[in-house]
Amino acid sequence: MDVDPSQISSASVYQHLIRVISPRPIAWVSTVSRDGRYNLAPYSFFSGAGSRPPSVVFCPANRRDGSSKDTLQNILETGEFVINVVPFLLAEAMNLTSAEIPSDESEFDLAGLAMAESRTVKPSRVADSPVCLECRLMHHWPLADGPGGANIVVGRVEFLHIADWAVDESGFADPGLLDLVGRLGGQSYCRTTDRFDLDRPRTP
Ligand SMILES: Cc1cc2nc3c(=O)[nH]c(=O)nc-3n(C[C@H](O)[C@H](O)[C@H](O)COP(=O)(O)O)c2cc1C
Repeated sequence: MDVDPSQISSASVYQHLIRVISPRPIAWVSTVSRDGRYNLAPYSFFSGAGSRPPSVVFCPANRRDGSSKDTLQNILETGEFVINVVPFLLAEAMNLTSAEIPSDESEFDLAGLAMAESRTVKPSRVADSPVCLECRLMHHWPLADGPGGANIVVGRVEFLHIADWAVDESGFADPGLLDLVGRLGGQSYCRTTDRFDLDRPRTP
């Protein structure tokens, strides 16, 4: 099957992309507006960007009416956000927080999630998430205006919280202990419980 994105609707392009770029990690992004409204939403167009500077990237699309989602609006207002990771035990709560609710209501309340204070930024963390990355906005690139328009957000990681129980004897988080979920196409998710190791090839 050959697909020319210029010949199909952007909804179909989206369906292709979320099925073939898979599995995707989920950034559960907490923010706060300038006037103090707390927000939380999942974003799976998400990746680490690099270690120098420590950086992450995620991509909020514009809403169907062309407006920015609350997460992006808040980040542009305050320059701050926290990326919380999603373990299997919090998958249903994460899904609840993807509901489009009025900006003056908090997804923390909707999903019954406790907040924890961050160290370097104002947005709260998800208290039960085992890893929280406190970030400051470095770059925002809008790729297109209007409905579905993509945005790239790059954040500098100012501080990492890693739950002690998720750290193994190497001193780093253990993927098996974290038990994170990934997003596939449609409504499907995967767990990180079926893993295998590969040694890196030697360079001559
Ligand atoms: C697992 C998951 C991943 C998602 N990933 C994205 C994404 O990468 N980009 C996006 O614009 N919306 C994504 N969404 C939809 C947003 O979470 C949803 O539009 C949410 O209402 C945005 O909330 P906000 O306006 O409070 O930021 C995702 C939803 C789910 C459940």
